[in-house]
Amino acid sequence: MQPEEVDAARDAALAAIAAASDLEDLKRVRTEHAGDRSPLALANREIGALPPQARKEAGQRVGQARGAVNQALAARQEVLEAEHEERILVEETVDVTLPTDRRPAGARHPITTGSELIADIFVAMGWEVAEGPVIEAEWLNFDALNLGADHPARTMQDTFWTAPEGSGVVLRTHTSPVQARTMLTRTPPIYVVCPGRVFRTDEYDATHSPMFHQVEGLAIDEGISMAHLKGTLDHFATQLFGEGITTRFRPSYFPFTEPSAEVDLRCFVCKGVDAASCRTCRGEGWIEWGGCGVVNPRVLTACGVDPERYTGFAFGMGIDRTLMFRHGLSDLRALFEGDIRFTTAFGSEL
Ligand code: DAH
Repeated sequence: MQPEEVDAARDAALAAIAAASDLEDLKRVRTEHAGDRSPLALANREIGALPPQARKEAGQRVGQARGAVNQALAARQEVLEAEHEERILVEETVDVTLPTDRRPAGARHPITTGSELIADIFVAMGWEVAEGPVIEAEWLNFDALNLGADHPARTMQDTFWTAPEGSGVVLRTHTSPVQARTMLTRTPPIYVVCPGRVFRTDEYDATHSPMFHQVEGLAIDEGISMAHLKGTLDHFATQLFGEGITTRFRPSYFPFTEPSAEVDLRCFVCKGVDAASCRTCRGEGWIEWGGCGVVNPRVLTACGVDPERYTGFAFGMGIDRTLMFRHGLSDLRALFEGDIRFTTAFGSEL
């Protein structure tokens, strides 16, 4: 290698070292200009083959060039390492004063939010929310509602009685006693909706539970008729399930209403259009929703409301069942097991 070539190789190496912008880059430059296959290393290897007089001079020249390159490499390495550390300190700074979120946010239970949603639909119509105790007087749960002592429904309703026997106190089997409580404590006009927990000695399976939820509605005013009931329930259904989802009545019997009806909900999946293949309503086009009717004058009388002046309507349906429809749940137990993975999925619905 000619002396100028050695100088050129050295200068090229020094320029590359000065231009290296980070440690990674410098590593590449080191291999290229100071590695085993670099021009200066190759030149060094050639020295042994030179005649003795030329060997000394060439050795000095190449040795100096390599020394300068190694020195420059070491100096640049130091500068880039310092820069790297500085950058890490800035980039990886942790602000220990920032607020943390180590506890995951909880979610309100769909029964809570669902009950509020239902109540809101009625509150928007000017109704009020009424509540009653779950441990209820037998008289309010049954007698006041025209379910006399020998009425078959009294045993049919699979009641939980509280001890001792003959206490006259039950776990309410429906939300209807809140009707009686309301009439006894308020004067008409009365428009109340009553969501709440009820109890029956039912098996615990995918569609039954010994504890479940109902919503009761009661309207008492002058000139109230079955037509008001139908319009109210249609509005309720549409608000919950969407446009076009209304109700139909089938004649039925409840001791506290006369006439009475079972209320069905238009199937919100097939909308009654292709019911034959619908798995939700199983070909009916309708889904059983609850019971309703015109308040029996005997109930008005028992609760201190003048049946000559006032009439009213009432209805009651299962909240859990309604929510199962609304959210497409197939197993009622999901609502009661308390698995937070289930409720979290409803977390966004307030
Ligand atoms: N209490 C009834 C039940 O639990 C439901 C019901 C039917 C409520 C008709 C009413 C009504 O207010 O008018 O099965």
